[in-house]
Amino acid sequence: MDFQTLRIEKAGVTATVTIAREKALNALNRQVLTELREAFVALEADDAVRAVIVTGAGEKAFVAGADIAEMQSLGPAEAHAFATLGHSVGDAIAEMGKPVIAAVNGFALGGGCELALACDFVYASEKAKFGQPEVNLAVVAGFGGTQRLPRRVGAGRAMELLLTGDMIGAEEALRIGLVNKVCAPDKLLEEARAAGEKIAQKGPLAVAATKRAVRKSMELPLAAGNELERELFAILFSTADQKEGMRAFVEKRAARFEGR
Ligand code: CAA
Repeated sequence: MDFQTLRIEKAGVTATVTIAREKALNALNRQVLTELREAFVALEADDAVRAVIVTGAGEKAFVAGADIAEMQSLGPAEAHAFATLGHSVGDAIAEMGKPVIAAVNGFALGGGCELALACDFVYASEKAKFGQPEVNLAVVAGFGGTQRLPRRVGAGRAMELLLTGDMIGAEEALRIGLVNKVCAPDKLLEEARAAGEKIAQKGPLAVAATKRAVRKSMELPLAAGNELERELFAILFSTADQKEGMRAFVEKRAARFEGR
């Protein structure tokens, strides 16, 4: 994988994707978005990778939003295509059968907050700041913020953030459920990778099925979601890993999962 705006580091079973446009606070232009989408597709296909961490280069920003300099001259059709590209990154994360954890190291604004929201869960540095300031630019959030933020934190809190454009710190983001864990800045990546490694020890097919079912719970009526859950539960009983996992429990030993 050869990218101009991303760094990909693999260590053990985790891959860390670092958005590296530090001079523009890692703002998302078309190139970054296209490369992010390609990176997630490639990491999904890489059997050696079981968990993915997404972070921003430098100490100041995770991602300070979509690239305003690039956006300012767009017309409506181009803006639609730009939002579609942004949504395709969120869709690539959702469709991955592996956990994707945001490690938010600084500003996560606009498209940056939306990128974090598209990840399966969020760890944040004590210095992180979150916000959806698009109304300050007289636009609406365009990479899923109006849809994912209310699903994550509830409609009232999402309305306040999206309508005021205010920023909140990591502790407030933790309190409202946008963030799962607040870490010391120098421990953030370590903690996110440890979470990824913990998940990577579980049955990979069960992890993928769990992610799919939870994601679908945000779209499906309860009965349809429960039906999907029953089907996934049943299908997993056709896997070697299910036999191994339950046999290992009975034999009081660690399971060795192969993802089949
Ligand atoms: N797009 C393009 N460039 C950006 C940027 C962005 N979103 N955010 C910051 N930058 C650039 C700045 O222009 C500046 O570049 P120069 O050095 O060439 O002037 C550099 O990054 C450093 O930024 P600042 O000098 O502004 O740094 P600061 O510490 O004074 O402020 C900040 C930091 C509060 C994050 C401020 O940069 C800021 O408000 N950024 C914009 C945040 C924003 O509005 N994001 C939402 C964008 S719209 C969007 O994302 C739509 C969507 O949903 C898809």
